[in-house]
Amino acid sequence: MAKKKLVKRSWAEPYKIKMVEPIKMTTRAQREKAIKAAGYNTFLLKSEDVYIDLLTDSGTNAMSDYQWSGMMLGDEAYAGSKNFYYLWDNVKRYYGFKYFVPTHQGRAAEHLISKILIKPGDFIPGNMYFTTTKLHQELAGGTFVDVIIDEAHQPQNTHPFKGNIDLQKLEDLIKKVGPKKIPYISMAGPVNMAGGQPFSMKNLKAVRKLADKYGVKMWLDATRITENAYFIKIREKGYKTKSIAAIIKEICSHFEGIWVSAKKDLMVNIGGFLATNNKRVFNEARNMVVIYEGLHTYGGLAGRDMEAMARGIEEMVNYDNIHARVGQIEYFGHRLMEYDIPIVLPIGGHAIFLDAKKFLPHIKQDQFPAQALAAEIYVDSGVRGMERGIVSAGRDKKTGKHIYPNLELVRLTFPRRVYTQAHIDVTFESIVEVYDRRKKITGLKMVYEPKYLRFFQARFKKL
Ligand code: F0G
Repeated sequence: MAKKKLVKRSWAEPYKIKMVEPIKMTTRAQREKAIKAAGYNTFLLKSEDVYIDLLTDSGTNAMSDYQWSGMMLGDEAYAGSKNFYYLWDNVKRYYGFKYFVPTHQGRAAEHLISKILIKPGDFIPGNMYFTTTKLHQELAGGTFVDVIIDEAHQPQNTHPFKGNIDLQKLEDLIKKVGPKKIPYISMAGPVNMAGGQPFSMKNLKAVRKLADKYGVKMWLDATRITENAYFIKIREKGYKTKSIAAIIKEICSHFEGIWVSAKKDLMVNIGGFLATNNKRVFNEARNMVVIYEGLHTYGGLAGRDMEAMARGIEEMVNYDNIHARVGQIEYFGHRLMEYDIPIVLPIGGHAIFLDAKKFLPHIKQDQFPAQALAAEIYVDSGVRGMERGIVSAGRDKKTGKHIYPNLELVRLTFPRRVYTQAHIDVTFESIVEVYDRRKKITGLKMVYEPKYLRFFQARFKKL
């Protein structure tokens, strides 16, 4: 007889490790020096000074042997490489769009879409902003309007689909500015800045109905759509038996087009694309891609990169793969919750977001609590996360003042197929210790501020 009764059976990753990359262990004194030299901005740390890197899941994924072997089949022709055609076929097959233009990463596709569709004076409603998406919309002369449901701005609210659009907010905007001033509704799933929160199929269908009523187009940021599809499968009625591939196809069928940073779902290190059924947009994108990226059959990528992307699409729709990915984040979140660490709920698809306002209530928002917390966690254990709060939100275009977002968060993001459960345990223990001495943590002062996307390069000093 076993000593202890088994309460539940576990799951594990559907892969094993074939190659390893050593990571450096550092001392606290070394890390204190490193973060000071980096101006208390984790983006400015040298990667070799980082132990567990949870800065992002973007381009930091482990490719499979199937993807790596494809890298050897790169057809490095300037024009018409066979990897391009294979990738195009897979975009058609899995996302359901006829036309496809590769780009070197997601923001390059955002750039093209924004330039093609937005006129100065336009308004672009969306389910919360993403930094690069909003900036490209603004650089094209548009104004981004957040029409996400209020629950998305409340970190502890457990609404299962916090990525949903508030239909009333959307219709109010359409009525106020007129449908002609809205080039498209900009939807993302899951919503990165809200904590990796999905939209539901029900909400998507309702948004589509409203869009059709006013003749407004819809475009999707499908960067992490596999995670959104997974949440629909497990949380929404009627989708339990549908495959991830079928759900992704159904989501995409509601949009005129999508843009994608392939550095996430597709589990590659570089790449992006846009895809659409609108031939006019396709032709314009093909015209423009040669100015900014490269020929329309490579868009700033090598043939081998496109091969790895094409194979990544086939792997991303594998249920066991996405289940293990989200499962890892859930494991981390539940461990933190056991110790009452304030995190954004429900647990999202790509990251755990610490609620810095609750974690450090004694630091005022304009003294950058999330920035200070990310720096403190790095000093404690060499774990690198990133600020997603007032620094990321930037300044108001008109007044020049800081935007004060409700969400003041530190994001701990998991690259796909990279870290083990032991890495997660080390991270979680570090956060518990930092939490125990949170009252001693002080705020920061910004001493250098770049003009665009300031969070990447801003520098701070300790107050
Ligand atoms: N859209 C979303 C939802 C993203 O998360 C990102 C990038 C982009 C577009 C831009 O794509 O980086 O390939 O140019 N997000 C990364 C992150 C940087 O860490 O969340 P990119």
